[in-house]
Formats: sequence, structure tokens, C-alpha cells
Amino acid sequence: MTGARARPGKRSSAAGTQGHTRMLEFPFTPHLMPATILDGNKIAAEIRAEAATAVKAMSARGLRPGLAVVLAGNNPASEVYVRGKVKASEETGIYSEKHTPSADTTTEELLALVADLNRRDEIDGILVQLPLPSQVDSKKVLLAVDPAKDVDGFHPMNVGFLSTQRPGLVPCTPAGIMEMLQRSGIKVAGQEAVVIGRSDIVGKPMAMLLLNANATITVCHSKTRDLPEVCRRADILVAAIGRAGMVTRDFVRAGATVIDVGMNRITDQAEFKHLFPNNPKREETFRTKGSLLVGDVHPEVAEIAGAITPVPGGVGPLTIAVLMSNTVKAAKMRRGSRVPELMRA
Ligand code: GUN
Repeated sequence: MTGARARPGKRSSAAGTQGHTRMLEFPFTPHLMPATILDGNKIAAEIRAEAATAVKAMSARGLRPGLAVVLAGNNPASEVYVRGKVKASEETGIYSEKHTPSADTTTEELLALVADLNRRDEIDGILVQLPLPSQVDSKKVLLAVDPAKDVDGFHPMNVGFLSTQRPGLVPCTPAGIMEMLQRSGIKVAGQEAVVIGRSDIVGKPMAMLLLNANATITVCHSKTRDLPEVCRRADILVAAIGRAGMVTRDFVRAGATVIDVGMNRITDQAEFKHLFPNNPKREETFRTKGSLLVGDVHPEVAEIAGAITPVPGGVGPLTIAVLMSNTVKAAKMRRGSRVPELMRA
């Protein structure tokens, strides 16, 4: 076993969670208490309930928020995600519509669609599901979305607002993770945060949000030297790599908070056995479905982390919940000023 290194006298980063305070022993003492499980479903339900309340108030004043989702082509994972987003909109009371250009669509067709959605007053949020088909110039399409309707927070103007700490729309997954940390009482200011992955969708905005919340940030990627050692610095470790079970216990300092953004579908029996050698419940699921959804974090990490997000049921539900609150925010910012009391709702 590779030792999880506890720093002498250093407290768990999850110390704020439900009185979960542990002094760690030194050196190389395995963390024997199971990690606090950060329940993404519960926090997502809270965020969605708050969004639904706001939608109700706005709808009563004739300003029902509207979301347009663009799903080009037939990527199976994107189809699942988009179905979840449309369903959540219905449940929140948000008007939603889905546009499904075919897999051979062009940049010009998508630009025309986005221009139409930009023009329509009843559409407050535009989400272009990624990845787009390879012949499409994705950056050009994302740049065409009105920044005021950019509920994904991908437009360079919103990226700039985030990095200069101005009000704007923030990418859903990292914003959901910040909500989870805050609502779980996990301290961020002054903590060491390590983000693995530097994507525009998760890694970079995650690092910026943590920095804005006064954490000390390290962003790791495929060229990072001695990744496990760098990750062991973390009080808060965010894994957004897209490789099943890559973050093993030697990446994690005992007591750290571990956020698993990975959603990897495994179908290989040997890979399953490596990740879950003694887990009859998961084995049953794997056998019945022929696949299993697993995160970037190896299950063994739960033995030493202070707090950890499960997969499924961790970060995933938060992404959709924040899409709902971003749509409400976009509607309030763009149309709410016509009914000033709604700005406070
Ligand atoms: N593809 C994977 N994640 C996302 C996301 O958060 N938004 C969009 N638009 N596409 C994605």
C-alpha cells in the first residue's frame, strides 16, 4: 500500500462537515474512518427547489424563463445529458425546447440557429451541447451565443467576467461544486486546492472559482511531473480527467476532500474487477447492464479521504441543478429589470 501522508498537526479539510474533525497522526497512518459522502442529489434538490420558487414568481408576472438546448448529431452520452436537462427544465417550470440538427450540420446552419435564438425574447438561456460534430467550428458557434443567454458560461465574455470577479454566468459543473463545498461547510479560503484537468468546461473555470474563493490553486495536466505527489498537497482535490479510477489512494492526503467529476462507462470485466474486487452489489449491476458508470477516483480513496463525492449521485446532478439556476439568473438579468421586485425573488 502506498502511504497517505498526513501533515503533522494538520486538520482534515473536511473538518467543517457535520462535526467531522480529525487530528491526523504522523507519519503514514492510514485514515480508518470512512469518508463523509457528499450527497449531490440532496444538494441538487435544494438548488432546484430554489430555482422552481423563482420560476413560479417570474411566471406569475408573465416572465417564465425559457431555455433552448441544441443537440447536434447523435452522440449517445450527449443524448442522455440533454434528456436530463430538458426533464429538469420541465420539473422546474422552465419553458424548454430542443433543437436537433443532424450529424452533417454545418457551422453556418448552427450560426443561423443561434442567431434566431439570440433574437427571441422568450428564450433566456441557450445551451449548445458539446462536443459538436467534428466538421463544425465549435469556438465560432459558442462565440455567437449572446453572452446574456450563455447559461453554460462558455462565452469569452463570461470567462472574462469570471476571471475579473464581475457578475456573469458561470459554467455549471464548477459552479455546482462550489455550491456543494459551501453547503457542506467545507472551508475553501486558505486551503490548498489541486485540480486535475484543464478543460474549458471544468478544469479552468474550477480553478478560477477556487482562486476567487481564496484557495491556493494548482492545476495539473498530462505533462505534470509526479502527479500523485502534487495531488497529495491538496486539502481539496478535484479530479476531472475522464479516466476511470485513475486517482488512487497514493494521490490523496488523509482527510482531504475529494471531488470526482469523472463519468466513465466501463464495459471491460478486468477493469471492473480491478476497481471493485469485492463489491457484490456493483457486480450485479455490471452483470445486468453490461456496463457501469464510474468516476475518475478509485473506490479505495473513500478509505482515506475526509469527504468524497460518489459516482453516480455526486457532481452529475449538480451540473443540471446549476443549469436551472443559471437560466433563472439569465432571465432575471435580462428581463427582470422590467419587473424590479423580481430581481430580489
Ligand atoms: N458537454 C459536457 N459537459 C457539458 C456542459 O456542461 N455543457 C455543454 N454545453 N456541453 C457539455
